[in-house]
Amino acid sequence: MIPKISTLSGYLYEYQKSLANPEAFWGNIAENFYWRKKWDNVLEWDFDNYDTKWFVNGKLNITENIFEKNLFMLADQPAIIWEPNDPSEAAITITYKELFEKVCQFANVLKAQGVQKGDRVAIYMPMIPEAAVAMLACARIGAIHSVVFAGFSATSLSDRINDSQCKVVLTSDGNFRGKKNIAVKKVVDEALENCSSVEKVIVVQRTHAEVNMKAGRDLWWHEVVEGVFTDNVAEEMDAEDMLFILYTSGSTGKPKGVVHTTAGYMVYTAYSFINVFQYNKGDIFWCTADVGWITGHSYIVYGPLLAGATIIMYEGVPTYPDVDRFWEVVDKHQVTHFYTAPTAIRALMSYGIEPVNKHKLTSLKVLGSVGEPINEEAWQWYYLHVGKGNCPIVDTWWQTETGGMMMSPLAGITPTKPAYATLPLPGVQPIIVDNDGKELKGNNVEGNLCIKYPWPSMIRTTYGDHERCKNTYFSTFKGYYFTGDGVKRDADGYYRILGRVDDVINVSGHRMGTAEVENAINSHPLVIESAVVGFPHEIKGQGIYAYVVLDSASENHEVDKIRQSLLLTVSKVIGPIAKPDTIQVVTGLPKTRSGKIMRRILRKVAEKEIGSLGDTSTLLNPEVVEEIIEGAGLKVPS
Ligand code: PRX
Repeated sequence: MIPKISTLSGYLYEYQKSLANPEAFWGNIAENFYWRKKWDNVLEWDFDNYDTKWFVNGKLNITENIFEKNLFMLADQPAIIWEPNDPSEAAITITYKELFEKVCQFANVLKAQGVQKGDRVAIYMPMIPEAAVAMLACARIGAIHSVVFAGFSATSLSDRINDSQCKVVLTSDGNFRGKKNIAVKKVVDEALENCSSVEKVIVVQRTHAEVNMKAGRDLWWHEVVEGVFTDNVAEEMDAEDMLFILYTSGSTGKPKGVVHTTAGYMVYTAYSFINVFQYNKGDIFWCTADVGWITGHSYIVYGPLLAGATIIMYEGVPTYPDVDRFWEVVDKHQVTHFYTAPTAIRALMSYGIEPVNKHKLTSLKVLGSVGEPINEEAWQWYYLHVGKGNCPIVDTWWQTETGGMMMSPLAGITPTKPAYATLPLPGVQPIIVDNDGKELKGNNVEGNLCIKYPWPSMIRTTYGDHERCKNTYFSTFKGYYFTGDGVKRDADGYYRILGRVDDVINVSGHRMGTAEVENAINSHPLVIESAVVGFPHEIKGQGIYAYVVLDSASENHEVDKIRQSLLLTVSKVIGPIAKPDTIQVVTGLPKTRSGKIMRRILRKVAEKEIGSLGDTSTLLNPEVVEEIIEGAGLKVPS
């Protein structure tokens, strides 16, 4: 049994223990897993020339820790309860035994298709059980999965496939999402026009949309599994063998492939899941994220299943067929733990409390929040109207790179404070530094959030480019992992995340590099250059504001048409999630004498905060500032 903290003093005791001797602390927790061979050393690390190894030389397979280890206890317990997009379609329950069989069977299929240990497999799928089966089948045979959110465009998909040279793509014919019926396979076909590494595509039949199956390459999932054995001996993996790659946006244009390895990720996701959510046998856990993001990896698939939990997997959107769908599903499946993003809470809040009050919601015990700062108003609404004042909220701060939750209350144990992620989990050593890297000690301080000691599920590298990993995370503040987030530690020592301090914006809980959006806009033939910034958005947390300088050839086109065409370009290059909320056409961007865009000014205009523009006299082209202010519909301060 994975150790579970049950009191505040227990938390404080465990936290101190984890500081005093991190290796003994994590070694003890790791003892509770099934190892083919135990590790020699718990930890070897170096933050200067970045290298971290956990459970060195340990041998295991993560799926044996989900299935074989627990199966005699869990066989008939539901592992996944799948709720379809359309409520008139029946939900599907898959027990641990059934899931095990499906995973083994598909593992055998992958092997038969030539997938070997270490090969990369792209998964571009909607929220259907096969997505989880696909991930676990890869893990079973030691293939490295790279899940790509099915909302990304063909270009984004092909970039990701090419970066890690995936051999196989697992996908579906289509995707039911709310009223939409999305042609998923079509996107894959388009992407694969530029991907020479892909040998096979296996397609789940979900929507029965007509698709083009390329002979010799494309196979139907239901056909390839037919008659295949449902037992499979798991591949023996080294503790540090790659488990998966997950691409995420950073400050530079190109998303990076964050690499997580086997043992550390396993230990940390299971431990954090059980402790933060205080999960008990029989509870029904629902994380509304998509498997395309890290939250889906760690707290739909790996953490909960390692802990023997029953999870809900939901195919659709919060507002279909009506705005009370989430609450209907909670009642229908008697959900005890509900974990979502602030953007969803704010969106549902905008419909008032009537849709919530139509449902009992008495099964709920714990509410969770993830992905972006939760504002106090949303926190209170969630607490009072969804939780009826009886459910603790766990505001969990973490990142794709951290693999698991880093700061969060333990449900019902840590006293909460609206909008605060509260305290670090055992084993997590946060430190706040100023811009010169000097530690800000004590309470009532605000600065850059770093972590000064390794934790088991931390990023190991960025796929194919270790230098990039070192430069991004370990060079800004020497000796520390830099999160890219600003943070405040208040008088009680509680942490409040203030948002990104780099050129990453957080739109509806999705990370977006401003440079990535700029690159997409700049690929439009009528654009000379652009600058993208975030601005506060009532529902999305942050919206995307793009300033665009157009080529003289644009004079022949209506500006509104150009705007539409730019939105289409961004959708095609990245995906609809990256579409700017505002596009302002300008004649120039404010630049310093060294040619750097002064984003501070652009951010202020986008935020409509032009009272405090600061010094603009050092600009190369101060005259554009007035034009930009007026173009934004604001009045130039006198
Ligand atoms: O800025 C922080 C914000 O989301 C970023 C990480 O994004 P991503 O890698 O996509 O992972 C999201 C899901 C774990 C962080 O750098 N963030 C995440 N959780 C919170 C948060 N900001 C404030 N409060 C949170 N609870």
